Amino acid sequence: MDRTEAAYAAYSVATIQMLVPTITTERLTLRAYELGDVRELTHLIGAREVAANLLRLPYPYSEQDARAFICATEQSGEARFAVALSGQERLIGGIGLRIQPAQARAELGYWLGLPYWGCGYATEAARAVIAYGFDILELDSIHASVFRENVRSAEVLRKIGMRPEGCSRPRVLKWNRFVDLELYGIMRAEWKSPPAPRAWRPHTS
Ligand SMILES: CC(C)(COP(=O)(O)OP(=O)(O)OC[C@H]1O[C@@H](n2cnc3c(N)ncnc32)[C@H](O)[C@@H]1OP(=O)(O)O)[C@@H](O)C(=O)NCCC(=O)NCCS
Repeated sequence: MDRTEAAYAAYSVATIQMLVPTITTERLTLRAYELGDVRELTHLIGAREVAANLLRLPYPYSEQDARAFICATEQSGEARFAVALSGQERLIGGIGLRIQPAQARAELGYWLGLPYWGCGYATEAARAVIAYGFDILELDSIHASVFRENVRSAEVLRKIGMRPEGCSRPRVLKWNRFVDLELYGIMRAEWKSPPAPRAWRPHTS
């Protein structure tokens, strides 16, 4: 068994969740979701402009969906972070890694509430989560896929150092329409550690 297999064979989903720390960046706090986020999560992710670009999301999105999402976090196999502005509790978005331990790889996904678009927050959060994936989880690669027309998200991925890896033909169904997916990725060897987030603090609740 090589380094990766040995390390990841030992990972249960619960272990991954225990590793989800609170991360602080220049302007943001990335923390575990709490049930107190249900209302804001429902309101923000349920907006048409946000939901339209997310593949696996019920729409319309209800408080019950939000509650189920938060309660299932420990079984999800994902490192999920709620995004908040520094010094504030209120959720403004979400970001996470869907981890495939046996392959030492993960898929990055994120969203922001519409009032918070265009401020560079997605880029800032994604940089921190990429650092977490490589530094703490010791992943070998991180990838993401975006709907072809989602130029805003593609720009975020480029800015965090991901490279375009190709485009699928339209075989993914979103809201009764088949869409193209563009794949982006970054290998561990390509990743240059950005300035460390200000603090790593294990999540304790
Ligand atoms: C994707 C998303 C998180 C980006 O949020 P954001 O706040 O706009 O992100 P940022 O401000 O960090 O960066 C966006 C970049 O795209 C650029 N951009 C914005 N509109 C653009 C456009 N029409 N064409 C090209 N680039 C554009 C911005 O200029 C910015 O780059 P800059 O900082 O160099 O100016 C947000 O749009 C969102 O939540 N969308 C819905 C969910 C989603 O798409 N999730 C990703 C699925 S892969």
